[in-house]
Amino acid sequence: MTFGTTKSTISSFLLICVVGTVAEATKKPHVVLILADDLGYNDVGYWGQNHGSAAKTPFLDSLAENGVRLENYYTHSVCSPTRGALMTGRNRIDIGLAHGIIHTTQIEGLPLDNVLLPEQLSNCGYNTQMIGKWHLGFSSSKYAPWNRGFHGFYGFLAGSENYWSKWLPMARHSNIGGVDFTDSTTGPTNETWGQYSAHVYASRARYVIQHHDQSKPLFLYLPLQTPHTPLGAPSHYYEPFKDIEDDDRMKYLSMVSVLD
Ligand SMILES: *[C@@H]1O[C@H](CO)[C@@H](O)[C@H](O)[C@H]1NC(C)=O
Repeated sequence: MTFGTTKSTISSFLLICVVGTVAEATKKPHVVLILADDLGYNDVGYWGQNHGSAAKTPFLDSLAENGVRLENYYTHSVCSPTRGALMTGRNRIDIGLAHGIIHTTQIEGLPLDNVLLPEQLSNCGYNTQMIGKWHLGFSSSKYAPWNRGFHGFYGFLAGSENYWSKWLPMARHSNIGGVDFTDSTTGPTNETWGQYSAHVYASRARYVIQHHDQSKPLFLYLPLQTPHTPLGAPSHYYEPFKDIEDDDRMKYLSMVSVLD
């Protein structure tokens, strides 16, 4: 298990890679790769507590304690370049993502001549599943995760949406938009309306881990939206942070707790 947050200043990511028990038929390990979005270096409990941060992450702390900590690594500063680099192993200037994120109204996606991590693992016999946020192209189904190496996808395609309604505005401050949520086995769906997405993803992840074909090794990519904006969590998560004066900070740390 490896564990680390990046030191990029604008936007930070947490990567947790859990390598599970070996699938008997193939002797290849099961891999769960969890990505947290916009998590600051000091927003993880065991780092933050030495830097005046009120972040509480007992579960992540225990994973880190029992795993390998990568304490000094860097990523690109925003979503699409970082996710593109993770999926391809290539620098953003080599994958057409030097400019920044892929906007909702943009037709480009991660260029199709790249072989992505799930495609390669699929070639190695893996059952590849993705649950969460893609943000690597959505203008055409050819860019969608289910056509780029993932056998199953459950989540949203763009950059950030309402955690409960899954509503995605087409542009900033716009009321025009739609529900961005897809189950690749059935298609676009509004079925998770009203449920907080981190919980929806966690319960799907549990289901996939419990029910996947045991004869094949599993690769589960779990990039959660939490704690990316828009800020907000189910209100009982606010309770431990209610003394924090800054409302945004209070909500943000509550979202980190949900992640934990
Ligand atoms: C999604 O479902 C909810 C609850 O039934 C409903 O209020 C909402 O209008 C639906 N959204 C869309 C875009 O259909």
